[in-house]
Amino acid sequence: MKRRNFFSKMSVGVSGFLGIGLLQARPQNWNAKPKRLTNSPLSIGTWNCPEAIQTSGQLMDQGIPALEAVVKGVAVEEANEDNTTVGIGASPDRSGLVTLDACVMDAKGDCGAVMAVENIVHVARLAQHVMEDTPHVNLAGVGAEEFAYNKGFPKTPLLTPAAEKRWKAWLQKSEFTPEINVENHDTIGMLCLDARGKLSGSCTTSGLAYKMKGRVGDSPIIGSGLFVDNEVGAATATGLGEAVIKTVGSFLIVELMRNGWSPQKACEETIRRILSKKGGKPDFQVGFIAINIEGEKGAYSIHKGFSYTYYKSGKAINVPSASVY
Ligand code: GLY
Repeated sequence: MKRRNFFSKMSVGVSGFLGIGLLQARPQNWNAKPKRLTNSPLSIGTWNCPEAIQTSGQLMDQGIPALEAVVKGVAVEEANEDNTTVGIGASPDRSGLVTLDACVMDAKGDCGAVMAVENIVHVARLAQHVMEDTPHVNLAGVGAEEFAYNKGFPKTPLLTPAAEKRWKAWLQKSEFTPEINVENHDTIGMLCLDARGKLSGSCTTSGLAYKMKGRVGDSPIIGSGLFVDNEVGAATATGLGEAVIKTVGSFLIVELMRNGWSPQKACEETIRRILSKKGGKPDFQVGFIAINIEGEKGAYSIHKGFSYTYYKSGKAINVPSASVY
């Protein structure tokens, strides 16, 4: 084979292997550095979480950096017993055990995550400690719990009477089907861009209600539930973690934005990738939100019912996301 043909075949093969064939029809601008937002902080979170967004937005208005703002913001939902999918009050697994997953990622590209943690409410803060105080990225199970006690976190039983009652009712039938938008909230993913143009994000959840014992979803998996790249933007996910992991959804959105796509178009393309693997109308929900470093935002989901909340001029505003169905 002639040398020129060999290289041209190789280039087709490599781009096909990487799954970026589609991108070749789009702007190729991997090295572009978007103009940075300097005028105002931006905070955006999955679902209707006004208090959490208000908290992070106001902190950044006071000059608090994005990482601290995002961890304090999601902590509002972790402490909210009425939120049945995050922190204390969350639904347990099939055996009645509440286990939490969370991660954080900052403007430097550093990250930390905890998985399947019992008895600790503020798992996003614990993930921050993993990032800052250990040589690791992921800590799971009893190791993460012991680390939390070493860091001074209190031991707090996470199964509330209300959650136990729901679980006992579920046990009657023990049917396991992912539910779509039943409570108008799910995993809290939050992205913050502070006044210095620094991005950080966090994702925190109890995962699927009545999941198998030991199951971990996308939320603490860097690249799936959350990805932050301060040169480009950030994205986070909610919904059925298994579907998000299979597309490495948040990383994909950030890479599409790096390639010149808007946050909205990048979210839409990533949902399209998920659907292209399934065929037909799936019986599960996935939603993404994203921002770029210029402060533009995007959101998209498979089904109607997903919403996101953002901070503007001292107020938290909740808006429905566009969706495929
Ligand atoms: N997105 C949350 C989960 O699947 O665990």
